[in-house]
Amino acid sequence: MQSIGDQSFMHRQELEFEQHRTTILIGRGLLGQARDLLVAEAGLTADDRVHLAVDSGPDGIVVDRHGRVLEAALEGGGGVSSTTLEALESAKSVPAVERVWDGLRDAGVDRQGMLVALGGGIVCDIAGYAASGWMRGIDLVLAPTTLLGMVDAAIGGKTGVNRPLADGGLGKNLVGAFWPARLVICDCDVLATLGSREFRAGLAECLKHALIDGEEAMNAFEGDLPSVLERDADALPGFVARSAGVKASIVRRDPREAGERALLNLGHTYAHALESRVEFGLLHGEAVSLGLVAACRAAREAGLLADGGLEVRVRSLLQQCGLPTTLPAGAALDPHVLRQVMALDKKSRSGRIRLVLPREVGRIEVVEGLPDEVVDSGWSAISKAD
Ligand SMILES: NC(=O)c1ccc[n+]([C@@H]2O[C@H](COP(=O)([O-])OP(=O)(O)OC[C@H]3O[C@@H](n4cnc5c(N)ncnc54)[C@H](O)[C@@H]3O)[C@@H](O)[C@H]2O)c1
Repeated sequence: MQSIGDQSFMHRQELEFEQHRTTILIGRGLLGQARDLLVAEAGLTADDRVHLAVDSGPDGIVVDRHGRVLEAALEGGGGVSSTTLEALESAKSVPAVERVWDGLRDAGVDRQGMLVALGGGIVCDIAGYAASGWMRGIDLVLAPTTLLGMVDAAIGGKTGVNRPLADGGLGKNLVGAFWPARLVICDCDVLATLGSREFRAGLAECLKHALIDGEEAMNAFEGDLPSVLERDADALPGFVARSAGVKASIVRRDPREAGERALLNLGHTYAHALESRVEFGLLHGEAVSLGLVAACRAAREAGLLADGGLEVRVRSLLQQCGLPTTLPAGAALDPHVLRQVMALDKKSRSGRIRLVLPREVGRIEVVEGLPDEVVDSGWSAISKAD
């Protein structure tokens, strides 16, 4: 346990990102200490205005419950204002960014001001992009309220919004910027209100991090899973810290995704193509779950997998998490169309599909130019239960 003044938190991580520095605090009861944390860790001064971009949450639960705690903690100083956002992929859009900019304008937030996002990955991504553009960039603080937001979306400086594709699908994160937060506040107490489906979706990214990190991380994931699924409040901070730490250490070594950071996209070329089919109604983490299975199968078909049991192990862990490993009955995939979407993915080069595939736990590779049959084997792995 560490402390700042009378604040206590359980885990602290630092992340240098070029000229930026991000402090990540993980613990319990942190939102109620927000002003002191912003002063101590993000350089907030008494005159600075703070604008909040807050996830409404289902039935207003995030804004009404966690937003109130945050707003009360931030009262005083240069003033607090807020914009409420809807956490829908269809609303993760340029108009949402414009709403935040209008909120900043109406509140008179200047270059010394600070934008604080409270919400899941969608709201963190929208707010981050808004902060990157307002007055050519203002300080950003992220307070993720989902498991996925804590271990992934809030870490590493990627921000952005979706754009419609020419065929009517949704192009994920096609517009964005690198704009790292000065401070990330992971108050694990907020996870108590997160819906079960959304909580489980976050576990897909946690498993992905463990797969990338190695056997020790996989064993820790497997060992922690029962208490994490119970949402044991004392187990969550350590679990979040371990998973967030995998991402932070990779971003520290490769902030701009010139190399190693691409490994974090394990399963994501498949996942993003699935998310483009909005009719499937998949959460990002659910699409990642399917993408991990597809990646294991494609790795086997490409002759990469040294460990033939990996797909079985991954599938079984995802099932223990309550995550999908096959598409819902009736969800028809057209591999030809999906390959076209994959070729548009940001990871692709000159329209050539790039996949991030496992050789074994802890040995992940970026592979380009695989035959269509290998790419499609991933689709067939999730199309039917086998
Ligand atoms: N920038 C990055 O590096 C990065 C990384 C991974 C994912 N992402 C993005 O993150 C998004 C997914 O984020 P997510 O999984 O956090 O989902 P989300 O933001 O869609 O939120 C899921 C649902 O949970 C609700 N919610 C949030 N916090 C809650 C709480 N504490 N209690 C009750 N309900 C709560 C939201 O209102 C929403 O309905 C995707 O758009 C994905 O592209 C970004």
